[in-house]
Amino acid sequence: MNTLVNGMPGESISVRDRGFQYGDGLFETLAVANSVPLLWDRHMQRLSRGAARLGIGAPDIHLLRQEAEQLCRGVARGVLKIIVTRGPSGRGYAPDPGASPTRTVSLSPWPDHPAAHRAHGVTVQFCRTMIARNRATAGIKHLNRLEQVLARAELDANCAEGLMSDESGQVIEGIMTNLFIVSRDVLLTPDLTHSGVEGVMRGLVLERATEMAIETRMTGIKKNDILQADEVFLTNSLIGLWPVRQLESKAYPLGRVTQRIREAIGDAIVAD
Ligand SMILES: Cc1ncc(COP(=O)(O)O)c(C=O)c1O
Repeated sequence: MNTLVNGMPGESISVRDRGFQYGDGLFETLAVANSVPLLWDRHMQRLSRGAARLGIGAPDIHLLRQEAEQLCRGVARGVLKIIVTRGPSGRGYAPDPGASPTRTVSLSPWPDHPAAHRAHGVTVQFCRTMIARNRATAGIKHLNRLEQVLARAELDANCAEGLMSDESGQVIEGIMTNLFIVSRDVLLTPDLTHSGVEGVMRGLVLERATEMAIETRMTGIKKNDILQADEVFLTNSLIGLWPVRQLESKAYPLGRVTQRIREAIGDAIVAD
């Protein structure tokens, strides 16, 4: 891994950093193709939105771009992770008034998910670990990811992803992906007002679907809605789109809407 900490090569941050102490910060994970971090503006918009929500100083996007370019130069395929925390501070939940944000930018190798996941689809399961409901932290990509860590630990070996619900039985998203289902030619994705991450790829999919005159809806989705859906797929910035072919005893075809969307986001994802 190749990392810049506040612009300097290194791997260390202070033990007093509130990102370490409390998960008081945000992150973004971007795909890199041919030296370019993909969907940069969308990632920076979510990062800025998250910083405003948490009351962390607005990140200097121009500086982050320079650092990203420095790390991505000459990289054919890779993963760029940006973390912004509230910075080092004294003990206790109240931050020092003068706390100054920490930023790290890291480049990692491209994950080698089987190409078949995107081409033919994946098997997924429902997770027992639940996602909490909290409007204050919903939508943004904050650093508190214990729910995902616990859910990932319960994933069966044959499953590429797990679906997570909240306590009211609404399915919110995958462990590391957003969820879409197609029912009677309408593209539905969970409403994320109370939980979940508003994925950059989710946003792009919704836009491209609308451009193709596919009706979209953000709504409550329960397990049964998924089991009765015509098509199901998952998205994130690295995988692009994975069709779901099997969920518990239910098998899905590789549907027409899924294929059209997969094609429509082709310019924004890293080719297999
Ligand atoms: C919990 C969670 N939800 C959704 C996503 C998808 O987000 P994006 O499309 O911005 O990659 C991710 C990505 O890592 C995630 O960790």
